[in-house]
Amino acid sequence: MPQQEYDHLLDLVKTRRTFRKFKPDPLPEGCIEKIIEIARWAPSGFHTQPWEFLAVKKKEVKDAIVKALDRHAPPITNIKAGDKIPAASQGSFRDAPVFIILLTDWRAKIGLPGHPTEKNPLVTSIYCSSMASAFLYLHLAAASLGLASQWYSAASRPEAEQEIRNIIGFPESLSIYDMMVLGYPAAPPNPKELRSLAEMIHYDDCGPQDFRTDEQVLAYAQKTWDWCMSEH
Ligand SMILES: Cc1cc2nc3c(=O)[nH]c(=O)nc-3n(C[C@H](O)[C@H](O)[C@H](O)COP(=O)(O)O)c2cc1C
Repeated sequence: MPQQEYDHLLDLVKTRRTFRKFKPDPLPEGCIEKIIEIARWAPSGFHTQPWEFLAVKKKEVKDAIVKALDRHAPPITNIKAGDKIPAASQGSFRDAPVFIILLTDWRAKIGLPGHPTEKNPLVTSIYCSSMASAFLYLHLAAASLGLASQWYSAASRPEAEQEIRNIIGFPESLSIYDMMVLGYPAAPPNPKELRSLAEMIHYDDCGPQDFRTDEQVLAYAQKTWDWCMSEH
């Protein structure tokens, strides 16, 4: 087994984290293209490659998108009204030099089995997974270049999407899958809370006793919620 490649991949997936605080420093020339080149190789249902990559670099366009997000999909925050904002919380996605918006081109579904012309649950499921694979490749590519990224899913909410569509001018046949915020980190993320390998791996025959109880799922959901919110 090529252990070295495995170790590199493990390092990379550990390095890829969700950053939520960015420096405004610009990215080196060619960086965006390198990241998208990796994502272009992602798997997609029936190889339809239903994606378009929209890199937003101009300050006025980014500012307009931030305004749209603040209106329709503000970032979740742990800071309550009247709280003193700690220094480390002052950076934000809005400071990042680049947003990459991943667009789904639904017209490509004609290349799926049955050549559907309408969206249906199967098309949506295949395209959701295809877009997730390309999106994850974007994040891994960013991490491999020593950059920080954030998955900003609220950009795909209908009202936010419509406003961003108007700002950019992309057609109705395309929709926002999600937005990746890209830049240099202003603060590191917390060490990751992770379920153990032994708990989640199952071999061959197994029954309910091999999986978590309802109480365990609930207790862990509380733990991840607390962990997640401490990052916001
Ligand atoms: C489908 C999906 C949607 C997400 N949406 C957001 C988001 O809108 N804002 C955000 O800051 N993080 C978002 N995240 C990041 C998760 O919160 C993050 O992956 C998780 O807490 C684990 O942390 P890590 O990415 O540092 O490993 C999203 C992740 C996924 C997979």
